[in-house]
Amino acid sequence: MRRLVNPIVLRAWMILWPLGGGAAAPALAVDAAQLTVTMCAPCHGADGNSTDHTFPKLAGMDQEYLLRQLKAFSSGRRRDERMVEVLTTVDPADFVGLASYYGQMQPKQGKVTNAELAAKGKVLFEDGNTDTGVPACAGCHQPDGRGNARFPRLAGQHQGYVLKQLADYRSGRRATDPLMTTVGKRLTDDEAQALAEYISGM
Ligand code: HEC
Ligand code: HEC
Repeated sequence: MRRLVNPIVLRAWMILWPLGGGAAAPALAVDAAQLTVTMCAPCHGADGNSTDHTFPKLAGMDQEYLLRQLKAFSSGRRRDERMVEVLTTVDPADFVGLASYYGQMQPKQGKVTNAELAAKGKVLFEDGNTDTGVPACAGCHQPDGRGNARFPRLAGQHQGYVLKQLADYRSGRRATDPLMTTVGKRLTDDEAQALAEYISGM
């Protein structure tokens, strides 16, 4: 298993901790926090819960997943002009700290605007669609959508962002995972809408 905390930073924290009176957060998070204020907060929000649906909420996502995505943007495996531009000004050595920072933030629930649609989404999320071979999302992303290191958290994510990702998997624009490419291709537009509606209110 990959180590979650950089051992050098951890040691630095252990040395600094008694001096800080025990109240200080890990040094890792403090450095990352400073970076995020200027570099990430304008789009992802100060607490990782962006308010604009084009920018994903990052709060509470697994740090290993976040780290994988940062690497995917910087290597070109995942495409987005805005993220790629930001990351050209970030030292890749800071990726771990950034991922850990957002992983520790408290996620906020989104809003359901269409309860009927969300109810359809819930059925799809939990059971999939056996006729068309759509697997149950819950099987990987967890029944409560909380996710883990391998399968990202979806609960509370913006409708617009979820819809865009499903479309990007389908079109091949996002080619970071063959499983999700298949899921994206099998979903109809109506199913994707229903799922996005349900997910945002989870
Ligand atoms: C100018 C706006 C902007 C800024 C600034 C920005 N991002 Fe992003 N970020 C985006 C957009 C847009 C996406 C979604 C891209 C897509 O549609 O695939 C994204 C996606 C991500 C993702 C993937 C999330 C997921 O659920 O897969 C991570 C991780 C991320 N950003 C981290 C960061 C970090 C860390 C910073 C600061 C160093 C940052 N971003 C700064 C716009 C921004
Ligand atoms: C077999 C496991 C599996 C199933 C089933 C599955 N997913 Fe995923 N999903 C993944 C993995 C793995 C990723 C991360 C892929 C990557 O790195 O791009 C992912 C990523 C996503 C993302 C992007 C999240 C983000 O923050 O950018 C969305 C949205 C998503 N899945 C929605 C769904 C929906 C909706 C369903 C059900 C119809 C579903 N998934 C079923 C494995 C699965």
